[in-house]
Amino acid sequence: MCGIVAATSKHRNVVPLLVQGLKRLEYRGYDSCGVAVWNQGLKRVRSVSRVSELSEQISKDQLQGFLGIAHTRWATHGEPLVCNAHPHFSGDQIALIHNGIIENYEEIREELAAKGVQFTSQTDTEVLAHLVRDNYTGDLLGAVQAALNRVRGAYAIAVFCKDDPHRVVVARQGSPLVLGVGDGEMFAASDTMALAGETDRFIYLEDGDVADLMPQGYQIYSHQGTEFIAVEREVRQMEAFSNAVELGPYRHYMQKEIFEQPRAIADTLEAVGEVTPTLFGEKAGEVFKEIHRVLMIACGTSYYAALTSKYWIEAIAGIPCDVEIASEYRYRKSVPDPKTLVITISQSGETADTLAALKHARDLGMTQTLTICNVSTSAMVRESLLRYITRAGVEIGVASTKAFTTQLTALFLLTLCLAKVKGRLSAESEDRYMKLLRHVPKAVSAVLALEPQVIAWAQRFASKQHALFLGRGIHYPIALEGALKLKEISYIHAEAYPAGELKHGPLALVDESIPVVTVAPNDELLEKLKSNMKEVEARKGELYVFADADTGLESSEHIHVIRMPENYGPLSPILHVIPLQLLAYHTAFIRGNDVDKPRNLAKSVTVE
Ligand code: G6P
Repeated sequence: MCGIVAATSKHRNVVPLLVQGLKRLEYRGYDSCGVAVWNQGLKRVRSVSRVSELSEQISKDQLQGFLGIAHTRWATHGEPLVCNAHPHFSGDQIALIHNGIIENYEEIREELAAKGVQFTSQTDTEVLAHLVRDNYTGDLLGAVQAALNRVRGAYAIAVFCKDDPHRVVVARQGSPLVLGVGDGEMFAASDTMALAGETDRFIYLEDGDVADLMPQGYQIYSHQGTEFIAVEREVRQMEAFSNAVELGPYRHYMQKEIFEQPRAIADTLEAVGEVTPTLFGEKAGEVFKEIHRVLMIACGTSYYAALTSKYWIEAIAGIPCDVEIASEYRYRKSVPDPKTLVITISQSGETADTLAALKHARDLGMTQTLTICNVSTSAMVRESLLRYITRAGVEIGVASTKAFTTQLTALFLLTLCLAKVKGRLSAESEDRYMKLLRHVPKAVSAVLALEPQVIAWAQRFASKQHALFLGRGIHYPIALEGALKLKEISYIHAEAYPAGELKHGPLALVDESIPVVTVAPNDELLEKLKSNMKEVEARKGELYVFADADTGLESSEHIHVIRMPENYGPLSPILHVIPLQLLAYHTAFIRGNDVDKPRNLAKSVTVE
């Protein structure tokens, strides 16, 4: 993870733009941050606070320079301490920032230590800084290239040195990095968002690229074997958007994003006329005809979107569908089938495990790939044959909300397309499903109106240490998502179970102290779910039930019911997740947590 920004300019102090860039990249990690500049040598300011405090420190220290690098960290090697914060220096010679993990850093560290190098941090990054210096004989580019020939792992780096006040060398392998081309200045960043307003000309570096940046221009080299060959890369003219989105009447981005869902879902459907494979790309028609299996790969909340849609794809399109956690799939021996549609689902399109899993599937001969993603320029979209771009808009809260419901919207649309191609969708069903889908934004608005009732529940949840979530069928992944939301932002331990599995273990946990959140739509499993609720009641468990209007479930001594406005048939999961998001949000807020930046987490996980 981590966010990096670098700049070299002929005519201005780059520190304000570096700090601005860091603020926009804080979603990538916020354990610590730092800026280094060239100003008659190497100067830096580092902090374990947020970028806003770093900025005050920078003003106090009057840090300025025409060349600089900046970093916001999500800790992997070494605690979030100032000594582990980037930029790392090697003596007074080399300054370096890094996003990623250097896998063989221990052996290199030992070698360098044997040569007398002193280390001041526990990071893998500092090792790389010293390795560059070890190879430095007056040519920074050559030293970085030589160092990169030694390291294994994933990285996006930016380096400068004391002897060269204008040159920044950057490189990427497995972690995102984009160049920005200015007038008399050059930039690099983990995300174009960091450079919004500074330039509209961008170059997406490819894996193995090293770029030599000077204010007046740049040269890119591709790492092939141990050689670095000069290459050209396309310059794209595009407007980058910053995440400097107004909060409006909301306290947090998460709350704002929960309430944006009707708009986000409507936007995701905006360009959809009829149900046709071309919505997913020119070749989708042929591909959908050819495949006879679906394999979905994702992480976190996106994984739960995949898990939900498995129920749709099998029930409506009649296609066998497997769902895998990316970090598991990429390392296990699986049986590839080239007639599989491999679908990666990702808000960011940059999650390292999902991206690697996509490449792994392709290496196994499965070339029919589709990415459902919220960022059209992301690596996953670029790597896939087909794509569907959700229109959630920039999501800032680390806990994903509107990305999830727009993913579900896209996945339902995909289900209909697959069903149509496979001859399993009558004109009448198509019409009925599409009407239902187009009505979702309105239905979500009605659910959002339940907020005051959910706040009353959150008051009680705030003092709890554990919570259990139950669902059945297609609402089991919704229970999983509800538990994930609660644990990641309120820090209350939460687990989700398919309700029928309760008696095989988790029932042992049930007593008066544990709230049991139950997702209770009026579907064919309702009676079974009611029996599971009785099992909880008999053990004096406290049930908190989100029940569809016509379920007959009423509040009583140990059962608290919030009534959902309407039953929504196959699209019910999209509605039932909304109150679970609200419950997590308000519980975390009452507990005084930093809702948008929960401890130890980051929005975009670009390391393994
Ligand atoms: C992180 C985020 C989650 C997200 C997951 C996958 O863990 O905090 O909200 O679901 O990454 O991210 P992706 O961008 O691939 O959907």
